[in-house]
Amino acid sequence: MPSLQELINVHEQEIKAFSPADNTDLENFRIRFLGTKGIVKSLSGEMKTVPPDQRKEAGQMLNAFKQLAEEKYASFKEMQEGVANNGPAIDYTLPGIPLPIGTRHPLRIVENQIVSIFEKIGFSVATGPEIEDDWHNFSSLNMPADHPARDMQDTFYVSSNPDWVLRTHTSSVQARILETQSLPVRVICPGRVYRNETISARAHCFFHQCEGLYVDKDVSFADLKQTLYYFVTEMFGADTKVRFRPSYFPFTEPSAEMDISCTVCGGKGCNLCKHSGWVEILGCGMVHPNMLRNFGIDPEVYTGFAFGMGVERITQIKFQVNDLRLYSQNDVRFLRQFQSL
Ligand code: DAH
Repeated sequence: MPSLQELINVHEQEIKAFSPADNTDLENFRIRFLGTKGIVKSLSGEMKTVPPDQRKEAGQMLNAFKQLAEEKYASFKEMQEGVANNGPAIDYTLPGIPLPIGTRHPLRIVENQIVSIFEKIGFSVATGPEIEDDWHNFSSLNMPADHPARDMQDTFYVSSNPDWVLRTHTSSVQARILETQSLPVRVICPGRVYRNETISARAHCFFHQCEGLYVDKDVSFADLKQTLYYFVTEMFGADTKVRFRPSYFPFTEPSAEMDISCTVCGGKGCNLCKHSGWVEILGCGMVHPNMLRNFGIDPEVYTGFAFGMGVERITQIKFQVNDLRLYSQNDVRFLRQFQSL
């Protein structure tokens, strides 16, 4: 039968070689060596078999053995707690995982450009509600209930209140400005508008407009032309030509539509300009005297011009986007193309 010293030697080897793979390993080690029925305990029980003259030495060996087991256990325990508290070791020198950064929507990019071009010449931004009442969207704009011009726009009505519509144009903001602000006014009004259209590449039930309004003493059609010409050269470049065609809008008199020379073919003819060399970009005119009167403004004293353009249209011309649906489909392959702008 091996002596106590020999037993200690064998187990000492085992302790020295021990390296736990995980918590369970370490716990098993504790139970095996330091537990109430563990090896240290049972070896202590063997002390009585040691001849009295060897007891002192055997006792010291046993103590050293116990200490070895305890130290081994304590050091691994500390290591494991360190891992649990600090998480896995992190190498801060490794390159990080890049976060995908969002991009501005092309319509917002163009809207911002339109607004800042007009801000440079003293226009300030004004906005209005998307749910409008009949007065601000139609009646005050010289479009009474039976006015045929109302047929020009297929309107979404709000079912809970027959007086409410989803605004069909940002011209409603003109009405709100004339109602609340003192003259002179010079505003640019970007916003979303709604029309009851079947969705296709060329039409959508919602889109965006930018309205402009300038009312002061002695504002003339020449001011309107010069302002819009300035806008076009800033937006599309100094080579771009403009032309005005007579048109009709109930809230302006005279009214016009403005075309620019095609920025894709330079006027030679292409798909964008339908081989005409010109693309229409906005409607405009001198604010109708009736509209001024609707807000208590004397048209003999004050005159003004107004214009309204489609943001999708300007964006389509700038970036040659040929399907309106792309703007609201949220396809990142489309949206990412505008990343650098
Ligand atoms: N509101 C018109 C539309 O939605 C656009 C427009 C035309 C606005 C002439 C104006 C304007 O301010 O003077 O088609």
